[in-house]
Amino acid sequence: DPTLAQDVVAGMRDIPDFPIHGVVFKDFTPILLDHELRDRIVADTVARQRGRVDVVAGIEARGFIIGAVIAHELGVGFVPVRKEGKLPSAVHSVSYALEYGTATLEIHQDAVSNGERVLVVDDVLATGGTLAATCELVESCGASVASIELVLEIGALEGRAKLAGYEVHSVVTI
Ligand code: PRP
Ligand code: MG
Repeated sequence: DPTLAQDVVAGMRDIPDFPIHGVVFKDFTPILLDHELRDRIVADTVARQRGRVDVVAGIEARGFIIGAVIAHELGVGFVPVRKEGKLPSAVHSVSYALEYGTATLEIHQDAVSNGERVLVVDDVLATGGTLAATCELVESCGASVASIELVLEIGALEGRAKLAGYEVHSVVTI
């Protein structure tokens, strides 16, 4: 939807030199505040995914916000993929390189079951490390990644190359 894509680009705010010098941070908080635009983004994803997935996995922190709304609209459960040390029960862990620094993500081992179809949701696809790690976590539980949904994809960082073999949808690619 080209109109939606334009509105998302207009709604994103660029913050230079955050969190470190040289990085331009894509801030989607203005989109969260604009309920009509937020609802159009969610409706776009839900129209593609309805009936295709058993559960939504959202990535801490910004993927929680959009992922929980999508799970609600799809009428399926929500699984948090969290940063290291936050989940209380037994976890699978994966470490990966970020655009800046390194990180570890975790999933509860019993969060998704064998054979379940998981929709992975996050706000931004940049280098792809975060999503690749999340797919690995989902598969560690025996479930499969049915699809990946993003609000924004930064094409120049070629994150899609790390997600070969997965179905990836972005509302807008810049
Ligand atoms: C940002 C963004 C994605 C990730 C994309 O999260 O929300 O999750 O980076 O980067 P990648 O494709 O290069 O892996 P961040 O780690 O800044 O944390 P936050 O969601 O908690 O703000
Ligand atoms: Mg994030």
